[in-house]
Amino acid sequence: MEVYLDNSATTRVRKEVIDKMVEVLDIEYGNPSSLHKKGYQAEKLLKEARENVSKLVNGETEGIVFTSGGTESNNLALIGVAESLKKRGNHIISSKIEHPSILNVLKFLEENGFEVTYLDVDKTGKIDIEDLKRVIKDKTILISIMAVNNEIGTIEPIEKIGEIAREKEIVFHVDAVQAVGKINIYVKKQKLDMVSLSSHKIHGPKGIGALYINNSVKIRPIIFGGGQEKNLRSGTENMPGIVGFGVASKLAKENLEETSSKLVSLKKKLYEGIISEIKDIHLNGPAIEEGAPHILNISFAGVRGEVLLHALEGEGIYVSTGSACSSKKKGQSHVLKAIGLRGDLIEGAIRFSLGIFNTEEEINYTVAVLKEKVNFLRKYKRR
Ligand SMILES: Cc1ncc(COP(=O)(O)O)c(C=O)c1O
Repeated sequence: MEVYLDNSATTRVRKEVIDKMVEVLDIEYGNPSSLHKKGYQAEKLLKEARENVSKLVNGETEGIVFTSGGTESNNLALIGVAESLKKRGNHIISSKIEHPSILNVLKFLEENGFEVTYLDVDKTGKIDIEDLKRVIKDKTILISIMAVNNEIGTIEPIEKIGEIAREKEIVFHVDAVQAVGKINIYVKKQKLDMVSLSSHKIHGPKGIGALYINNSVKIRPIIFGGGQEKNLRSGTENMPGIVGFGVASKLAKENLEETSSKLVSLKKKLYEGIISEIKDIHLNGPAIEEGAPHILNISFAGVRGEVLLHALEGEGIYVSTGSACSSKKKGQSHVLKAIGLRGDLIEGAIRFSLGIFNTEEEINYTVAVLKEKVNFLRKYKRR
């Protein structure tokens, strides 16, 4: 049996998405900038995709700028706003548990004259709103906090942050890559100025994403060229990707309630199976009912996560030790460190992340294999 439990790293593309992408590659292959019929057809598809992606965050169609993915969206949001508002101030607020595509951009901005405050998180991974209020300065121009953490599934209080940011007239950016399709995002109600999205986390293709930008936000491009995407992201549009992302977004939005209740019930089943069958385990991050529907991070004391990952792989089960982007690099997870987890438990952490194609049968199989492998590895270690 093959069980894919690494849906926070990437997801399998839906059949409906593939079919539409093939049509774009094969038949509707025009360039939306062309003046003839082929170009016009492509422009229509581009508009339709933009509408579908904007609905995923309940925003205006014109707010969507297509990019090459979550990483580029985060780069554009942070550098674009920092550059356009640098005369007003140079202070940015973020958190210690953001994705590397935020943290490494912030590092770059720090090297270029900006000052960044990284908020601490509690043991569940949540920032403290009072901390946020305390660190805001007159020269704060930007707050960037993720909606859902990719390693432990913490849901950050973005609506409260939005309230504060709007009152202080500070631009608020949210990395919602792990949130959309699982929890509702409302750019207006939650007062979000910019939102990063990525297609391959919602059963769409890789290499395509978007940044939602509220029309009041002043932002400079980071890629220059022919002026596509309202001058904010030049380059001939990745039409197969964009159209695939559009279909994936439409399906994610239409099925959100059903998807999230399915994921929650599979996650609970997995967690309950693990605690009833395996001793000395530690749940990392928020309580089971409080975290994102699809992410479960557990440490197995006395076992190295990487060894367990490969033992599970041998039985067809695919999981992760941390985030996919950092797991091939040496060093401990910055997220697990930030929540104050003990070193040996950080070493023993496994992230299970669920998707729409997972079944109860797969969860039963996973629990049975986990029990066997964890017990074996613990015995082997004691010898
Ligand atoms: C929270 C978060 N932000 C950003 C990204 C980067 O997205 P992409 O892979 O589309 O560049 C990821 C992907 O792992 C993520 O989990």
